[in-house]
Amino acid sequence: MKYYIGIDLGTSAVKLLLLDGEGAIAKIVSRDYPLSFPHPGWSEQAPEDWYEKTVDGLKELLSDIDPKDVEGLSFGGQMHGLVILDAEDNVIRPAILWNDGRTQEQTEYLNNVVGEDVLASATGNIAFAGFTAPKILWVKENEPENFAKIAKIMLPKDYLAYRLTGTFSTEYSDASGMLLLDVQKKQWSDIMLKICGIEKTQLPQLFESYDEISCVKKEIADALGLSDHVRVFAGAADNPAAALGTGTVGEGRCNLSLGTSGTLVISTEHFVDPGNHAIHSFCHADGRWYLMACMLSSASCNKWFMEDILDDADYAKAQEAITKLGENHVFFLPYLMGERCPHNDTAIRAMFYGMSLDTTKADMVQAVLEGVAFSFRDALEIAKASGISLTSTKICGGGAKSPLWRKILANVLDLKIEVIESEQGPGLGGALLAMAGCTGKPVAALSEAAVKVVETIEPEEELVRKYDEKYRIYREFYPALKGIM
Ligand code: XUL
Repeated sequence: MKYYIGIDLGTSAVKLLLLDGEGAIAKIVSRDYPLSFPHPGWSEQAPEDWYEKTVDGLKELLSDIDPKDVEGLSFGGQMHGLVILDAEDNVIRPAILWNDGRTQEQTEYLNNVVGEDVLASATGNIAFAGFTAPKILWVKENEPENFAKIAKIMLPKDYLAYRLTGTFSTEYSDASGMLLLDVQKKQWSDIMLKICGIEKTQLPQLFESYDEISCVKKEIADALGLSDHVRVFAGAADNPAAALGTGTVGEGRCNLSLGTSGTLVISTEHFVDPGNHAIHSFCHADGRWYLMACMLSSASCNKWFMEDILDDADYAKAQEAITKLGENHVFFLPYLMGERCPHNDTAIRAMFYGMSLDTTKADMVQAVLEGVAFSFRDALEIAKASGISLTSTKICGGGAKSPLWRKILANVLDLKIEVIESEQGPGLGGALLAMAGCTGKPVAALSEAAVKVVETIEPEEELVRKYDEKYRIYREFYPALKGIM
């Protein structure tokens, strides 16, 4: 039997997935690593941890098979992170991650001084604090000695690929989130490079997600017992990789991901200009495009409230006590790390509103689930305003395992939610890319074949109406809060 490996380089852990030649998942292994918040709103990680934990996890992943049967591997990775290397390939400073909010000033400079029109015509997008270009400007302005040392600029999963293969590469889906790529033309934007004060030689070579970039280095292959010619494919950003695992390819398909961040991904055949640019327009892993809204805190809100605040890890029991959907007086705004879409505001923070003496724990847990669903509704409204029309969506990520949360989402969004048999997030997408590369089968066909819908949650008219009323109230909070923050 032949095998393919998908490496999902996440924010809290690296998840490794082994796919057999018939498309069945043979094994999944995960290794955690720390995330550090050196200042409020900052978010960093050590690239060395990514590499060490990946290699350690690979040993366990391969322990039940003959590693020589592995034909190829590929990646799904957390997006937008800035990894910088000097001329000797040393990591210059910790990686600045996608949910880091230090670049408000640089983001405002890009959007207001350079101008959103210039950015949108150069890249297809405007600046958001989490994107890579504002981080490059932040390093330039705040750590000039580090900026002067930069020889290579990389994204997180591409650093891993570099360590495993020695090839300095990226691919269009992840490069889209740097604000350095012309997303429609699929080439680095000279204007953006000039604005950031960098040269093309500091940037990686561009590939399609399913392109072969190299083989695993001989010394690493030997240490893992792999053959000398394990083929490595460029991979994809985690959201398009997760979308492949849920069959979200082609025109007008949708996937919601409830992980640390929440994302709404809509695949398209062609590049779409999303009008006001409050959501992103990026290259997809199948060679086409997608629209995406990213809400910085999603399942992480529920985890924070349950575990850090309530000291309760029994999510299912806490949710059993929730019986009155659509009638909660408590609201929660999920802005624990500021917000990306649609507000583009690093200063905003989360809030509970509407408690009274009879408010229960269940009401507050419910408010958290509903607040996250309302943030998805904000994103959906913007996608609809760009001319997108949807009736159903797939769902993935840790939060998607809750039947109650799925029901809330179906009714807040007024979309059918299709639950698939085995949802494995970006790791499966990465393995499918390796399989596509090795077998020559089209990515889109492998993606569609990987999906079997096992349950459909239909919106209920009365509940949709009730949630619509609640959403009208929810959307009043941000403009009111913005002034205070
Ligand atoms: C998407 C984004 C997040 C990260 C999470 O734009 O920033 O979803 O990719 O890993």
